[in-house]
Amino acid sequence: MRIAIASDHAAFELKAELRDWLMEEGHEVADLGPDTPDSVDYPDFGYRLANVIADGTAQRGIALCGSGLGISMSVNRHPALRCALVSEPLSARLAREHNDANCLAIGARLTGTDMAKACVAAFLATEFAAGRHQRRVDKLSDPQIEDRS
Ligand code: RB5
Repeated sequence: MRIAIASDHAAFELKAELRDWLMEEGHEVADLGPDTPDSVDYPDFGYRLANVIADGTAQRGIALCGSGLGISMSVNRHPALRCALVSEPLSARLAREHNDANCLAIGARLTGTDMAKACVAAFLATEFAAGRHQRRVDKLSDPQIEDRS
């Protein structure tokens, strides 16, 4: 399973720490940037991350910015992406188990490195439970204006 990771400047250091740690753990990791800590716009990197997951180049994404909010919103603009912003591992596990999240977002200014690693570990270790969750997840990729309940 290939993991893609991207950030903005506010999460540049956390991106490097998570990337190196994931590679040490034996994962295949694609760092989509940025390559320097200079100021950038999080949508540029969120969209880049969404595209490589949507086209199958990577199976999981890690999206990082200062709060995790802007980059998760950017990733979730793509209908094939389900990006969960988390700050603790139980949410990371549930995002996989119930929501089949294919991307995890973390706020580097709000979540410490050890907690971020615990969230990523839970995200990568958990399978989608499918069953009753499948129909709901399918609807996430097919948004409708009208109420279909
Ligand atoms: C950058 O200052 C900051 O706005 C960004 O990293 C993120 O927190 C936005 O949602």
